[in-house]
Amino acid sequence: MGVSSTAPHLLRAARGEIVDRPPVWMMRQAGRYMKAYRDLREKYPSFRDRSEIPEVAIEVSLQPWKAFQPDGVILFSDIVTPLPGLGIDMDIAEGKGPIIHSPIRTQAQVDSLHNLDPEASLPFIKTILQALRQEVGNKSTVLGFVGAPWTLAAYAVEGKGSKTYSVIKNLAFSDPAILHQLLTKLADAIAVYARYQIDCGAQVVQMFDSWAGQLSPQDYDTFALPYQQRVFQQVKQTHPDTPLILLVSGSAGVLERMAQSGADIVTVDWAVDMADARARLGKHVKVQGNLDPGVLYGSKEFIRDRIYDTVRKAGNWGHILNLGHGVLPDTPEENVAFFFETAKQLSTAALVS
Ligand code: CP3
Repeated sequence: MGVSSTAPHLLRAARGEIVDRPPVWMMRQAGRYMKAYRDLREKYPSFRDRSEIPEVAIEVSLQPWKAFQPDGVILFSDIVTPLPGLGIDMDIAEGKGPIIHSPIRTQAQVDSLHNLDPEASLPFIKTILQALRQEVGNKSTVLGFVGAPWTLAAYAVEGKGSKTYSVIKNLAFSDPAILHQLLTKLADAIAVYARYQIDCGAQVVQMFDSWAGQLSPQDYDTFALPYQQRVFQQVKQTHPDTPLILLVSGSAGVLERMAQSGADIVTVDWAVDMADARARLGKHVKVQGNLDPGVLYGSKEFIRDRIYDTVRKAGNWGHILNLGHGVLPDTPEENVAFFFETAKQLSTAALVS
């Protein structure tokens, strides 16, 4: 719990201190838009190797740090990384995302899932996070992340990404008891994993409930929110000072509900005006995000104007500057560089009256 004046910028803002400018990082800041990443991918074509061989994962995590000095350095990994430790075998296919070889659809399969023992099944996470902390010191904040129960259940049940979520919705609406047991087991495992990441050096943890925006609000209240709360409550019990961020893709209809999750910071996507998001969330909820990742295809002037607009609307407290979702793979690297430079030079006081 370091003395706050020595704590890095993003961590201070995430804890609610007033800072001179919003800290900045980017979701998916390590990845395909960077030439250094594409080069390394040729040497290590398997995503699991890139994310589970500590030296490689450390190098990838640090590529954006070395190029742009963001205020946050996120662990290079994936939300499905802990699943093999529960007995759910998976792979991550080029251009497709996670593949679960034997999707979980029966009571017997749910019963056979293990408790997560991260020391045994995820030892590489400790090596990676410790090295990241060592490397960035107090110059940046190390972020860990986890998938949320609903989103991990969607992969586990569907077996892969989906457009319609037909298989998991079939289970949810015709045999909900099995799904609730799966969600409970996933929530407890995710809480264990988040605590482990914090113990290994993560200073902030973001939970991705990427597919919860596919649920109607009443179904979000049944299948997503209670399990987000279950994770955040368990993590807060042992690690009350670690800021927790929640992301839901397509969250405009459930923004107020996200604020009920126990997250300290709610990620806002570009379907909502930042001023409206602030008004809907209330003054005590911190916000992150809001810029359309497509903004980075625009001119430098355009990018700068959009950054300023978001900062003006977010105000001078509790804002982490970020895109509303991951940076797109064909984004020009120099525009990413410009985004970070502009963000790091701005002064909130000059923009917010
Ligand atoms: O933000 C970061 O820089 C950390 C890295 C990170 C990855 N996945 C690396 C990755 C993070 C935070 C994730 C989380 C993740 N993984 C989410 C939640 C975020 C979101 O997008 O809502 C989801 C839904 C997944 C599942 C997943 N893994 C998808 C949909 C894909 C993309 C498939 C594709 O190729 O477009 C993956 C693979 C993946 N995970 C890539 C990266 C950089 C791309 C594959 C590659 O680089 O070879």
